[in-house]
Amino acid sequence: MRATEIIEKKRDGGELSAAEIDWFIQSVTAGSLPDYQAAALLMAIYIRGMTRRETVDLTQAMARSGDQLDLHDVVPYAVDKHSSGGVGDKTSLVVLPLVAACGVPVAKMSGRGLGFSGGTLDKMESISGWNGAMSLARFKQQVVEIGLVLAGQTAELAPADGKLYALRDVTGTVSSIPLIAASIMSKKLAAGSDGIVLDVKLGRGAFMTTLDSARELATTMVNIGRDAGRDVVALLSDMNQPLGHAVGNSLEVREAIDALLGEETTPADFWAHCLEVAGHMLVLAGAAPSLEEGKRLAAAARDDGRAFEKFRQMVAAQGGDVDQVDHPDRLPHAPLSAVIESTRAGYIGEINASQIGWSCVYLGAGRAKKGDPIDLAVGMIFSRKVGDHLQVGDPLGRVYARDGESLARAVAEFKKSITYSETPVEPLPLFYGMVGGKEG
Ligand code: URA
Repeated sequence: MRATEIIEKKRDGGELSAAEIDWFIQSVTAGSLPDYQAAALLMAIYIRGMTRRETVDLTQAMARSGDQLDLHDVVPYAVDKHSSGGVGDKTSLVVLPLVAACGVPVAKMSGRGLGFSGGTLDKMESISGWNGAMSLARFKQQVVEIGLVLAGQTAELAPADGKLYALRDVTGTVSSIPLIAASIMSKKLAAGSDGIVLDVKLGRGAFMTTLDSARELATTMVNIGRDAGRDVVALLSDMNQPLGHAVGNSLEVREAIDALLGEETTPADFWAHCLEVAGHMLVLAGAAPSLEEGKRLAAAARDDGRAFEKFRQMVAAQGGDVDQVDHPDRLPHAPLSAVIESTRAGYIGEINASQIGWSCVYLGAGRAKKGDPIDLAVGMIFSRKVGDHLQVGDPLGRVYARDGESLARAVAEFKKSITYSETPVEPLPLFYGMVGGKEG
């Protein structure tokens, strides 16, 4: 097959055959397709879209690009979760230990930052020595030993996603329903969990900006999972403002640790979001008869310290420095910071979450080019929410930067991302609904 013919076919709105999709994915995996041709096809898919059949074929080809794990020889039922990407979304860091601490095995494959959205692997690497790369044997062994494993793509698990993901991150080809669905579901199918909770974000800080497009993405992924015999539920959640307060790798790890410790400073929206996702995971696994009971069990696992201990165990098992978990002030911290105060009185009408996400990328918290190193320490704390009332001089948050120039630019962008209203504004909802659930 010839790459240019496949690219031209999709560019002109054609439907790719299963064989063409397979060839593309195999060539990407083998490294025989140059990045410029892979990126051209990604852009053609981004612009032209894919039929349901093409999306399923793409997902399956990506899942087959490495091994596909069956965990049933080690655990009867494992659960996983995945977010479609947002700003300040450090949910996995809290939810996975909450669920594992309730006795339900959790086996997750995560990604790195993508476009303006942060990635769990990058965040976890704020902890010195922590490593998401592991063999499949080790992945399984850790599920058995501590009931919680958090890995990235390897040469063995969904390697095609690892390569395409890195290209999409820097080629403006992220927010495409077939590409997101295939990326997420290929990892979920390869990692072998039986129950999957998908957190599909919508709004300005998400790749799907409308409820309709988020529902379409959710339905596509739920159907792919069900066809593969998995229990899948997709939550439609708000991403019109950063989730919690922290945006930026080590800042988010710190906020997650605070949440696991039940610190009073834990943002209410973030904790409520974590409980909802954890509750659904426990229901899927049959560990809770209802969402309310699932949430209660998850909260109890935090209150008595089991979830924090589970996080420590996972960090230690994956080579991380537990001392930084016990003393989060030892996590990487930026040399410069500036407090941002409100310059006017009024209600917060809007917070442009994607602008915040991009500002953090420019600060160094994400990548401008494939393979760029990231700065784990920089980012923003955005401590106000849509609907909050402010007086002139009230603190809005803080920016953390590596040098004076990037600090000044980020401070200006932070301020620009807020729109004020003279009249009261309703707080944003956390969730808009769900798709799927356990069948039978
Ligand atoms: N998360 C992923 O793993 N892939 C995407 O494309 C978006 C979010």
